[in-house]
Amino acid sequence: MGDVKISDSVIYIGADDRAIDLFESQYKVPNGVSYNSYVILDEKTAVMDTADNRVTDVWLDKLEKALDGRKLDYLVVQHMEPDHSGNIQRLAEKYPEMRLVGNAKTFAIMKQFFTIDGLDERCVTVKEGDTLSLGSHTLQFIMAPMVHWPEVMVTYEQSEKLLFSADGFGKFGALDADEDWACEARRYYFNIVGKYGAQVQALLKKAAALDIKMILPLHGPVLKENLGYYIDKYNVWSSYEPEDKGVLIAYASIHGHTAAAAEELARMLKERGAEKTVLTDLSRTDMSEAVEDAFRYDRMVLMAASYDGGVFPVMEDFLLHLKSKLYQNRKIGIVENGSWGPTAGRVTRSYAEGYKNVTIAEPAVTIRSALNEASRAALAQLADAMTVSE
Ligand code: FEO
Repeated sequence: MGDVKISDSVIYIGADDRAIDLFESQYKVPNGVSYNSYVILDEKTAVMDTADNRVTDVWLDKLEKALDGRKLDYLVVQHMEPDHSGNIQRLAEKYPEMRLVGNAKTFAIMKQFFTIDGLDERCVTVKEGDTLSLGSHTLQFIMAPMVHWPEVMVTYEQSEKLLFSADGFGKFGALDADEDWACEARRYYFNIVGKYGAQVQALLKKAAALDIKMILPLHGPVLKENLGYYIDKYNVWSSYEPEDKGVLIAYASIHGHTAAAAEELARMLKERGAEKTVLTDLSRTDMSEAVEDAFRYDRMVLMAASYDGGVFPVMEDFLLHLKSKLYQNRKIGIVENGSWGPTAGRVTRSYAEGYKNVTIAEPAVTIRSALNEASRAALAQLADAMTVSE
């Protein structure tokens, strides 16, 4: 990757990680991930967050090149999650005169992860609106609790109008990945920050008061143009409003009969003019993709086999994920399959009724082993209910 050009005095020193198997030990990242980090060179020098331990050598090398023999005055710690804080102790030992900038919560968590000599004397504790002058550059700190941890803050550099946005506006994928921003930024957002929509909305309101020329997140590309597009996406996502009209059919099938019914339902929805239908086999699709699609569309049909007196486990896992990410404001259809005592619908409905502001479409459909004339007719009624405009 050729290095990202920001400006003469702000240098990108982050690194791509294409070797990682699972980000946060749970998310598949086929195109890797980047851990972004930046140096600001002025009368004083400052590093904006470190990087994951997995890329220490590359990151340190870039840092030394950027500093070109100068000393390092400040490390600004916007987020203590180890994908960004992994090298704080190492940096503090390498540059003993360096001061560490964070808020009270930053240092409380930092002391849990690290033992840094003289931290109490070296720390610069900031709060909402505080500024730090580096010379011609001035850093203004904006608290962003729970986007994505409680200590998170973002930083606005006043002279170049740069917003260092921590995890906000980040995406999966190494910087050299040739892929759509929204696709992997949406998957990142809903799976990582999704629970904290209210806190993201609060941050967007604060950001609206700033004149921003560039957004510099801790993952994914630096955003330099058309910033309204990205901010609009974040506004939709964090408000839990659907992004697109369409129906996600998420199914959990053991021997293929529920899957066949899902295919039939997709055909019925298309016949009735559904704007978009997306079929997701929960046993085989990456869970984070299914969660992303659930939030993307305004409607969803959950179709599952019964299992051990409950619902087939991959469906329950999906329902739990949606609960933890505060899935809401959607219409849901329910289809169960059971050969002798169908139970999947009851469990699915109990989750769905727990989501905020959800309408459950009727009828809920029961399939006995395989679709027959009666269950096919019920499925057609459900297709009607899922495509009726309200
Ligand atoms: Fe990229 Fe919440 O850490």
